[in-house]
Amino acid sequence: GKSGYDHYMLKEIHEQPRALRKCLRERVDAIERTVDLDLEGLDDVSAIHLVACGTSYHAALYGARLLRERGIPAQTFVASEYDRASLAGETPLVVGVTQSGETADTLGALRTARAAGARTLAVTNTVGSTAARECDEALYVRAGPEIGVAATKTFASQQIALHAFALWLSEESIGSDRIDALRALPDQVQAVLDDSDARSVAEAYADSSAFFFVGRRHHQPVALEGALKLKEISYEHAEGFAAGELKHGPLALIEDDTPLIAVVTGDDEIAQKTVSNVKEVQARGAPVIAVTDGRSDVEQYANHVLEIPETDPTLAPVLANVQLQLLSYWIAAELGRPIDKPRHLAKSVTVK
Ligand code: F6R
Repeated sequence: GKSGYDHYMLKEIHEQPRALRKCLRERVDAIERTVDLDLEGLDDVSAIHLVACGTSYHAALYGARLLRERGIPAQTFVASEYDRASLAGETPLVVGVTQSGETADTLGALRTARAAGARTLAVTNTVGSTAARECDEALYVRAGPEIGVAATKTFASQQIALHAFALWLSEESIGSDRIDALRALPDQVQAVLDDSDARSVAEAYADSSAFFFVGRRHHQPVALEGALKLKEISYEHAEGFAAGELKHGPLALIEDDTPLIAVVTGDDEIAQKTVSNVKEVQARGAPVIAVTDGRSDVEQYANHVLEIPETDPTLAPVLANVQLQLLSYWIAAELGRPIDKPRHLAKSVTVK
């Protein structure tokens, strides 16, 4: 059942600390500072293609950046766009990111890869799924069953499974800071859940005419995910994009009833660039909701702040996304939408 929550989605959002602990269990060795994944035959990977759809595509974007940061060439493809030309004569490891393991487009992309001689890995929540059976190897994200159509805990678990994969695959040593940050993450997610002001912010803005989500670098995938989640369950217009793209078009849509939700953590030049984008939007009269760890001066230009604890820059998107999930949930609740079963959508899309 829903354990006292009004919707499975809210229950599953609250299950994230436990899901992440399960994802990390026996995989991260705090003393040796190693990550151990039970995967075989992947020790000479020179390049990676990640293929996925929807929310899983956003997790793949997050994972690909971490792989590249550790020196492993990695590219992300929308599964339905993946074809022979995507392989372009290469034989990369092709990673299908799919919580259900049954998404037709993702299975199709994996089959294309296999037909071209590529090795394949399924990153999935479902033991025994088609993706798990057809791929050479499977990495389970261990989120537990997800009933809500909108993916929440499976997304967080995909992020962390891909994070662990990037650390495991790379030759570089893993600093103790990163290991500590990973181990602290489930409790930090719990802190976000306990202290979030997303409900009152949602109540203030549920009637807005459109919502724009921005983030830069590590936060760009969660800006996309924040917008997808909101449109799915609230039926409101939402767009997510790289913060730097604002001035290349979307700024024309900014009005006083189009909130900008900006994810800004840290206080480096990357953060400062996003703060500049935020300033431009606020100067044009739009309300700004900043998801931040409070280290930059973004709060000065924000009408509301959704705070997250400080962590490693590579993990901040996981915490920020929890605030975005709650914001979407409470906007949809305020609008009285059927949150667990949005119109026209299915939990697992088995047709192309
Ligand atoms: C959104 C959502 C979908 C799925 C997509 C892929 O909340 O759940 O966008 O992420 O249909 O599904 P899987 O991960 O099962 O391949």
